[in-house]
Amino acid sequence: MSDFKLQTPAGDSVIRIGVDVLSELKRYVDKKHPDSKVAVVTDANVGELYREQISAKLPGAMTLAIQPGEGSKRLESVKQLTENLLEAGLTRTDIIVGMGGGMITDLAGFVASVYMRGVKFISIPTSLLGMVDASIGGKTGVNLVAKNSLGTIYPAELILIDPNFLDTLPARDLKTGMAEVVKYALTLDASLLNDLSKTELDYVTIIEKSVGAKVAIVSQDVMETDVRKALNFGHTFGHAIEAHSGYNLTHGEAISIGMILANQVARKLERQTADVMPKTKELLERFGLPSEIPKGIKVEELAPLMMNDKKMSGNKLTFIIVPEIGKFETVEMGVEELIDLAA
Ligand code: GLY
Repeated sequence: MSDFKLQTPAGDSVIRIGVDVLSELKRYVDKKHPDSKVAVVTDANVGELYREQISAKLPGAMTLAIQPGEGSKRLESVKQLTENLLEAGLTRTDIIVGMGGGMITDLAGFVASVYMRGVKFISIPTSLLGMVDASIGGKTGVNLVAKNSLGTIYPAELILIDPNFLDTLPARDLKTGMAEVVKYALTLDASLLNDLSKTELDYVTIIEKSVGAKVAIVSQDVMETDVRKALNFGHTFGHAIEAHSGYNLTHGEAISIGMILANQVARKLERQTADVMPKTKELLERFGLPSEIPKGIKVEELAPLMMNDKKMSGNKLTFIIVPEIGKFETVEMGVEELIDLAA
């Protein structure tokens, strides 16, 4: 078992990797918040598998399950969950647990941050994407027109990661998480390239390195005014592609295409070493992720969606490029200019 501590001005998180999450949740609640009620927000699939275990370990905990899929990450779900929590009498001293993939931990974290102006929040990511990225660093949100257009920074006080969940994760969901790991390898930790080239992947090491890279960045800049922007590599085009596909492409598939487009921009600017693009493609292909721009996507059509990007400041975007493997740089650019360079 390994522990990380993330300290930020927005709140601190303890991240525990390699635990039996429900037993650990019970231990933690009994010790730290013995008088608090617990509401577990999950999706219908995870809820079906774990509802009995949740009631056995945490008698009295309520489980609120919403429809799986990115389509549920919307304001209507916030309303539905809030009504359910109010009906169940959840008060300001109680706890919301988000247990599921990134969609659930983002949504549950958002509700926790606004319900009664903020209640305690614990995150139990069950997907690789949630374990290596979404659950860490406090970003919460729902989609409205654009991806994550409404959201807060509200770090979970406890994040419990059990890599055993990956054994039952559908292959497409595992791939989508690998896209974020590829992002860490390309921007922050080139040593991950070795781990990603092994025949038998060691997921515990991959999760630990990814969490370590993210903790190091977020602890310096939780509000994303500076270095946290590195984590957006591939996401400027990626978020637009995800929305453009009507969320039929997964986040990981969309950011894979976004990383290719970002490399294309960097190459045109002559700010990238020759090995980055082939290495990116090799990694994405290895994990069955898109390594080319699908024919159905016209880069120009992404412009209106990119205008809604949270990384816009005035009419410029802060765009992340990889000058060499394991490093990142930012460039300020208008959307039109970016589209021209990527097309
Ligand atoms: N997923 C990017 C970030 O947390 O900043």
